[in-house]
This record gives sequence, structure tokens and C-alpha cells, in this order.
Amino acid sequence: MFDKILVNNYEMPIVGSGTNTFGKVGNTYTNPLRGDTKEVVMAIQNGYRHLETAQSYRTEGVVGKGIAKSGTPRSEFFITTKLATRNGYQGDDWAHAEIQKSLKSLQTDYIDQFLIHHPMTDDEILAAWKILEDYYKKGVFKSIGVSNFKEDQLKLILDHATVPPHANQIESHLGKWQHDLIAFHNTHNIATTAWSPLKNIDQPSKQLSAIAEKYGKTIAQIVLRYQIQRGVIVIPKSHNKDRQAQPLNIFDFQLTEEETTQISKM
Ligand SMILES: NC(=O)c1ccc[n+]([C@@H]2O[C@H](COP(=O)([O-])OP(=O)(O)OC[C@H]3O[C@@H](n4cnc5c(N)ncnc54)[C@H](OP(=O)(O)O)[C@@H]3O)[C@@H](O)[C@H]2O)c1
Repeated sequence: MFDKILVNNYEMPIVGSGTNTFGKVGNTYTNPLRGDTKEVVMAIQNGYRHLETAQSYRTEGVVGKGIAKSGTPRSEFFITTKLATRNGYQGDDWAHAEIQKSLKSLQTDYIDQFLIHHPMTDDEILAAWKILEDYYKKGVFKSIGVSNFKEDQLKLILDHATVPPHANQIESHLGKWQHDLIAFHNTHNIATTAWSPLKNIDQPSKQLSAIAEKYGKTIAQIVLRYQIQRGVIVIPKSHNKDRQAQPLNIFDFQLTEEETTQISKM
């Protein structure tokens, strides 16, 4: 597995597995948990060592149990999770308690990447960021960042931080590549992770189908390859063993400049 070296030199596998519906009844985000770790174990067997979760997904425990069950040491995994901030920042005591819950559910004493899940008011962002910095300085978080942040919100952190954000996890896929925001990230050494990276692959253009055919790859593999060639980390998710394996099989070919230019306009 290939790694991206973050600005603090911590290594992040460039392909990870999302988990937001894993272990849930009917594979549905809002449904209750089934109590098994089937998809996480399948991902680990397929070769994933980067697993991405969040407090709000309720799948931290599924990831923690799956890793424990796999017999593969915790140290071989890169785990990302996120502070649930959709309802704002509920104070330092709340943040500490939520972080302790994450560590317990994930069955670990450190987290490879900890993110603020959604932007809030400026004061709330800065209060949350200070907590993330404290855990980073203590070595509990190995890298810290945000998700769904826009340029202004990143600038706010950059202007006030003692530790700059290492990553921003954003929606990025066919039809919404986010070229401008990613250029801003690159200027500030902020790694980009693309969520929902497979959105819109079901109705590919003729051009995209032709590129896939040329390399003997699926459309999913072509769009993921495009992302990693421009330095973007991807966290696709599948409940199906074969489809889940595909993103790990994109390192044996290279899109030409002409092809990446074509895809960048799709
Ligand atoms: N930070 C955020 O706010 C945020 C928001 C949304 C999502 N996320 C994260 O991003 C992860 C991925 O996003 P996502 O689940 O929304 O979308 P996704 O990974 O882009 O797409 C998932 C869908 O694609 C199908 N699929 C998977 N692999 C495929 C392949 N090789 N070929 C064809 N179809 C394939 C899956 O169906 P099957 O299961 O049937 O294969 C599933 O329906 C989530 O798990 C979550 O962890 C983060």
C-alpha cells in the first residue's frame, strides 16, 4: 500500500475504506447496528490498513472489534475518526468525554487522524481546534484535521493555530472534483481526502468508458486512480468483497496527462 507523507511526516495510506454503513442492518446509515464486524474483517482480509470512521457513524466500535478480531496488530492500521460537531461545540468537558469514548470504542490509546467533522461558528472551531492540538501534542492524535471545511474556515485555523491542519476530508468525485479547494490545500500543505469518491460512476461518459477499457479497469478504478495521481487520498466503501478489493488494485497503471485532463473536466 502506498502512503502519503503528511506535512508532519506521518504516513497515511492513500487508499482507505470508509465504514459509515458497516455492521448496520440493511447496510443503511441510519439503521441499528447488527453486532457483527463482517465488512471490517473483509476489508482487512482484502488488504486495507486505513479505516475511516466517525463518532456520528456509530461504527467506531465495529472498527475496533474488527481490528481486534483480525489478529493484525493495531500498529499496522491507520485509523481516522471525527468529533461529532453537527450540533456545534458543546464545551471542553464534552469534547474530552467524546474523545475518551472514541479511544475506548476503537480499543486503542492513539488515533492516527482525528478530525472536526463539520464546521461551526468561528469561536467553536477555534475552541475545538485547541483541544485537538492538545491531544496532538500529547501524542494521542498522530495527525489532526477537519472535514467539510471551506477555504475561509481553513484560513481561520491557519491564522490561529499552533499546529496547522494536516488534512481536510471533503466531498470529491465525478462532477464535483473541487479543484480550487484542493489547490488551496496544496498551497498550505493540507492533505485532501475525498469522501464519496465513487459517486456518479454509474453513468460514465463514452470517454471514461474508453479509458477504463484501455487499461482493463473498472470505472471505479479509473476515477480513484485519477484522484491518487493528483495526490488525493480516497476512502471508498463497499459491502461486496470483489468491489471492495478494486480500489487496492489501481497501482499497476498510470493515466496519461491527456486522460487526467479529460477526467478533470468530467
Ligand atoms: N466526512 C464526511 O462528511 C463524509 C460524508 C459522507 C461519507 N464519508 C465517508 O466516505 C466513505 C465513502 O463514501 P460513500 O459510502 O458515501 O460513497 P462511495 O464510497 O463513493 O460509494 C459507495 C457506493 O458505491 C458502491 N461501490 C463501492 N465500490 C464499488 C465499485 N468498485 N464499483 C462499483 N460500485 C462500487 C457501493 O455499493 P456496494 O456496497 O454494493 O458495493 C456503494 O453503493 C463513507 O463510508 C464515509 O466513511 C464522509
